Amino acid sequence: MENIGKYQKFWNKKKVFITGHTGFKGSWLCIILGYLNSKVDGYALKPEKNSLFNKAKIDKRLTSNTYSDINDITKLKKKLKQSKPEIVFHLAAQPLVLESYKEPLKTFSTNIIGTLNLLESIREIKSIKSVVIITTDKVYKINKKNIGYKEFDQLGGFDPYSASKVGAEIVVDSYIKSFFKNTFLQNKISTARAGNVVGGGDFSKNRLLPDILRAINNNKKLTIRNPNYVRPWQHVLDPLMGYLILAEKQYKKQINNYEHSWNFGPNKNNFKKVIDVVKYIKKKEELNYNIKKTSELKETSILKLNSIKAKKKLKWVCKWNLAETLNKTIEWNRLVNKGNSAKIVCEKQFLMHIHSKDN
Ligand SMILES: NC(=O)c1ccc[n+]([C@@H]2O[C@H](COP(=O)([O-])OP(=O)(O)OC[C@H]3O[C@@H](n4cnc5c(N)ncnc54)[C@H](O)[C@@H]3O)[C@@H](O)[C@H]2O)c1
Repeated sequence: MENIGKYQKFWNKKKVFITGHTGFKGSWLCIILGYLNSKVDGYALKPEKNSLFNKAKIDKRLTSNTYSDINDITKLKKKLKQSKPEIVFHLAAQPLVLESYKEPLKTFSTNIIGTLNLLESIREIKSIKSVVIITTDKVYKINKKNIGYKEFDQLGGFDPYSASKVGAEIVVDSYIKSFFKNTFLQNKISTARAGNVVGGGDFSKNRLLPDILRAINNNKKLTIRNPNYVRPWQHVLDPLMGYLILAEKQYKKQINNYEHSWNFGPNKNNFKKVIDVVKYIKKKEELNYNIKKTSELKETSILKLNSIKAKKKLKWVCKWNLAETLNKTIEWNRLVNKGNSAKIVCEKQFLMHIHSKDN
């Protein structure tokens, strides 16, 4: 069993700059880092009204909070200069596949130019000792024979979201090889690839768990797309802990980052069909649903990450299995609906996660 102490020891008073801090993963990250007593500066667009960021009053815990566009390099540079962070997490992105078909330009710009802007901006910030850039499992070129994508497998993506994240990976690789060699940023930049994450506080459209919880909370019928698609279901805390461990080891020069990409996927038994997840939740909650057989817009059908590298070199493990992941998400929804503080529920689940045995 892990101990919170080792995380508190490292993260206490660390200056951290997070882009995309107002989003789902960014909000959980702010809550965890707040609990660990880090000094967090955030840079993102304004949060949605009904967001975890607002529910957990995250703005109150930040050392600075900027609502601005990642495409605005002048502002981003200025804020990074003011912040002088030691550690940077880059999460700001247009993260939805279906939205990327509606807004391809915005998606490519935010996800590729936004990442370029970050890379350009950090070149001048000498305080930086570790940067983790969040992409996705969808960066891998689909190969039907592949039973688990490894970090050096071929990249590729046809939908605009996946393609934009492949673009982000390529610009990171280019900057590392072209500009960061033999500088203070050598071995200090990584990309992190994880799959669909779930957990309390995600209110996005067209994601299964938020759609299910909205249907339960509003007593509405849920329409399910692609019931037989297999997805890697993972609690948001699992990859977030991976990002934290990666950032720390990179900071402490404990990894030789010649291969700078890291998979943080769930264990084999967390790969389940959409319909299995729906049926599991239906056993626990009042849920009505129907199935829409075909989806007009194509999403990648099966993605399995091989995360052996993170397990071996970072000693990272995906702790919560599918049942635990779904139970914690349902529990979060129930507790917050009953009036419990979203921040405290997140903090308690973070502690439970730290103290959980390996899955
Ligand atoms: N949630 C998942 O299942 C999942 C899976 C794989 C990868 N990811 C990646 O993780 C990261 C965070 O995802 P999330 O689920 O928290 O998404 P989210 O939509 O909840 O949050 C996105 C964040 O990016 C910010 N952002 C978007 N456009 C911006 C812009 N132009 N300028 C500045 N900020 C901007 C938003 O304000 C928000 O803070 C993204 O990079 C996403 O691609 C998420």
